[in-house]
Amino acid sequence: MTADHPLAQYYARRAGEYERIYTKPERQDDLRQLEDWVADFGRDQRVLELACGTGWWTAVLAPVAKAVTAVDLNPEVLEVARAKSLPGVEWCCRDVYASEPIPGSFTAGMAGFWWSHVPRRKLPGFLVMVHRQLEPGARVLFLDNRYVSGSSTPISRTDSDGNTYQTRTLADGTEHEVLKNFPTAQELTALLSPLADQLRVRELTHYWCVDYRVGQRAGGQPS
Ligand SMILES: C[S@@+](CC[C@H](N)C(=O)[O-])C[C@H]1O[C@@H](n2cnc3c(N)ncnc32)[C@H](O)[C@@H]1O
Repeated sequence: MTADHPLAQYYARRAGEYERIYTKPERQDDLRQLEDWVADFGRDQRVLELACGTGWWTAVLAPVAKAVTAVDLNPEVLEVARAKSLPGVEWCCRDVYASEPIPGSFTAGMAGFWWSHVPRRKLPGFLVMVHRQLEPGARVLFLDNRYVSGSSTPISRTDSDGNTYQTRTLADGTEHEVLKNFPTAQELTALLSPLADQLRVRELTHYWCVDYRVGQRAGGQPS
């Protein structure tokens, strides 16, 4: 994917208004729970955070982690993130699908609200790429939205692979079709079980969160 991909362009244009999504009143209790889970996850780890955006979750990780490398394709969102002046964070502008390894050695990997944007067919390969970036037995956490009628943007269409899409409107009035999948706990378990040890799937009203250790057959480095 390159910076001219529609998903990347959408998030570049949304950079200044992105964090409004974290102010939805009905989601606040769940967000506080997620923040606790992410802080527990990142404590004393060297974390690779993928698609970090404006650094909402980086700000949760930075005070507890040994170090964080936070990666995003868009300079526009990284500028918002850098302005937070988080200690111990290295910001890195690059594509999560790029084949070159991200410099560093990582005991943990996480991504917030990124899984939902990965086409279903690409997920297995994406997971292998993530696991290869991490030390053997590293911990991994993904969190993302559950579809909640009345709170989530309605699904506008479903393609032949089962990917779902939303039509989103930015503050400037532009409309963008965005791939946004809402996997069930069963789908997450089925995909991750062969790759993961100590897999845990947790669901809140508005969000899901999975965490696990990279298993020996997960596409990571040999232990
Ligand atoms: C839903 S936002 C998530 C941001 C942040 N993780 C959060 O939870 O607040 C998705 C992010 O993915 C970034 N992105 C889109 N395509 C990317 C790619 N190919 N590689 C890296 N980041 C990408 C966008 O710039 C955007 O910041």
